Amino acid sequence: ATQMPEIKKGLVGVYADVSSISKVMPETNSLTYGGYAVQDLCETCTFEEVAYLLWHGELPNAAQLKAFNEEVAAERAISPALHRVIREFPKDAHPMDTIRTAVSFMGLEDPETADISDAAQRRKARRLLAKIPTAIAAAHRASKGLEPVEPNPSHSFAENFFNLVFGKVPQPEVLKAFDVSLILYAEHTFNASTYTARLVTSTNADLHGAITAAIASLKGPLHGGANEAVMHMLKEIGDPKVAREWLQSRFDHKALVMGFGHRVYKSGDSRVPTMRKYAEKMAEVVGDRTWMEISRILADEMLTKKNIHPNLDFPAGPAYYLMGFDIPLFTPIFVASRITGWAAHVFEQGADNRLIRPLSWYTGPEQRPVVPLSAR
Ligand code: SDX
Repeated sequence: ATQMPEIKKGLVGVYADVSSISKVMPETNSLTYGGYAVQDLCETCTFEEVAYLLWHGELPNAAQLKAFNEEVAAERAISPALHRVIREFPKDAHPMDTIRTAVSFMGLEDPETADISDAAQRRKARRLLAKIPTAIAAAHRASKGLEPVEPNPSHSFAENFFNLVFGKVPQPEVLKAFDVSLILYAEHTFNASTYTARLVTSTNADLHGAITAAIASLKGPLHGGANEAVMHMLKEIGDPKVAREWLQSRFDHKALVMGFGHRVYKSGDSRVPTMRKYAEKMAEVVGDRTWMEISRILADEMLTKKNIHPNLDFPAGPAYYLMGFDIPLFTPIFVASRITGWAAHVFEQGADNRLIRPLSWYTGPEQRPVVPLSAR
């Protein structure tokens, strides 16, 4: 071609493949996993049932769920070698970098890393689902000089996560709010980290490589890193009375307001009403409405002044804060959940693979002679 074709910068509006895992419907602000509305899954199912749905295309019956839970729970322990590596991490390392490194290390240890058959990929994904919380929590505790907590196989996924981080399991309302957040974070079509996982998979590289790359992609504040940025922002504002003024100064500087906007949803993120409801419940449980009040003011002003809606990270940030998590753990929690969606996409890509390799339109210098070093 001699004429520059239309470039879809950021791949905006490009359908890059088909997928049967989930469907985002921006016209109706809705989202389904395997045909089920995500808000219905939140009210009726556990995160474990949703993980099974994403990996099998159907919700499990009681016997299937029991078998799945037992298989995952049995894989929760991480190796003594990984525990040693984690103890060597710099204490101030970001938890997204420590979990990225831990998953990469798990790839060195996994007996089936190089086997990319569908059955092996599924077994490895199950191991990652089980071990990621253990590694996140061990690194978090090591950074505070604390010993790791042993995983308890009788715990649910949510109970296990809290127990590994805090050494105790919270009250049911807190567990439910956390479980809902995991369901909402589990899957979202061709977002940047999921597409990263598919791109790596398209070269016939292994699952651990795809997930390590996906974690790197999720860290950025334009993507998963936003849930941490939201809480830093709410704390910086600190008081509902100054929220409007603070936001105006952001507008004056043409700065991004974290937790707002979305590439696909332009009139509201399907997951926000459910997450907001559970974040409000957390504010009640803790008896502190400050963050939800500041959030409400920001959301109202963003909508009236800019016509921009909040995304899932906006209510998830304060919800995790109210649950007692340190802010740098928020995006790792997103990892602990999204491993389900990433792996589902790795399986789907692997089942019908073609190398992903787009074109670039060259805008550099015209072809020219090479001048030898002595003449430059
Ligand atoms: C996630 O893709 C997924 O599905 C992701 C995700 C998932 O589940 O996997 O949903 C999770 O990543 C949520 C997004 C978290 N990111 C943030 O909260 C960061 C803040 N938001 C943005 O930077 C932005 O909205 C993006 C990155 C989310 C979307 O970027 P786009 O689609 O490239 O949109 P854009 O930046 O071109 O914005 C369009 C307009 C611009 O104004 P104009 O130049 O047209 O005048 O809206 C403005 C933007 O400046 N805008 C914002 C804004 N978001 C958009 N202005 C201020 N603050 C914002 N947050």
